[in-house]
Amino acid sequence: MMTLSQMAVDVLTTADGRQKTAKSRAYAADWFAARAAGAPIPVGRAEAPLRPSRPAKPELLDPRDVPKRKPGSPQGRIALLHAVAHIELNAVDLHWDIIPRFADTPMPPGFYDDWVKAADEESKHFNLMCDCLEEQGSYYGALPAHAGMWRAAEDTVADFMGRLAVVPMVLEARGLDVTPGMIEIFRKAGDSSAVAALETIYAEEVGHVAYGSKWFHFLCGRHDQDPKDAFHTLVRTYFHGALKPPFNDEKRAEAGLPPDFYWPLAETIPNRTP
Ligand SMILES: [Fe+2]
Ligand SMILES: [Fe+2]
Repeated sequence: MMTLSQMAVDVLTTADGRQKTAKSRAYAADWFAARAAGAPIPVGRAEAPLRPSRPAKPELLDPRDVPKRKPGSPQGRIALLHAVAHIELNAVDLHWDIIPRFADTPMPPGFYDDWVKAADEESKHFNLMCDCLEEQGSYYGALPAHAGMWRAAEDTVADFMGRLAVVPMVLEARGLDVTPGMIEIFRKAGDSSAVAALETIYAEEVGHVAYGSKWFHFLCGRHDQDPKDAFHTLVRTYFHGALKPPFNDEKRAEAGLPPDFYWPLAETIPNRTP
């Protein structure tokens, strides 16, 4: 029987997106079936690759070289769905990576429940975006994508709390800020399947941010650290640049992220010199 860490490495080293998410969803089902049967799968140990395997397409470009398209056109909406698919595939790998990467830090079973559930949901999100792209006659890999997506994982490769601060509590929280605007674009275009898919993503991402915040606070408690101070220090250490307002204060609060966590890290408008 495979350990959870071995399952994670198998997902990470599978290149094709649909195959990666199929494995991810099957392993998540195995994990929860074993938990329900009272015979949990051991977390175990396995060597996580520094970078996950990815398909030959999409071509990965520096964000400055990724062509910008107007969201008002069908091509622009395809580009938007493609960008979200790319984010979701990266999110699948980010969720599985944390399990073998930080397996030396003992965590309660509830942590693995949350992470495996989120990995399963990210896999569903990628598949939903692929379905929408295919409905439009496109597919994941048809356009170039952002090359810098794995950077946050590499930057926090040796810091578990840093990983929680930057990935769920900064990057996934950013998703809560921008998704309502995206839903509006597809609603105006009358694309009801994209609206439904993005609404599923939006609802489930609140949970992912909440898991990040919950386990970040848990580790702060274990190390007797003030969560707000620790969060500010870690984000300033590992995250490049300032956080971008406007923030979705309501959904962030629902996810356990109060304004005094993120506002001090927001980009400031330089004061005019008198
Ligand atoms: Fe997602
Ligand atoms: Fe997520």
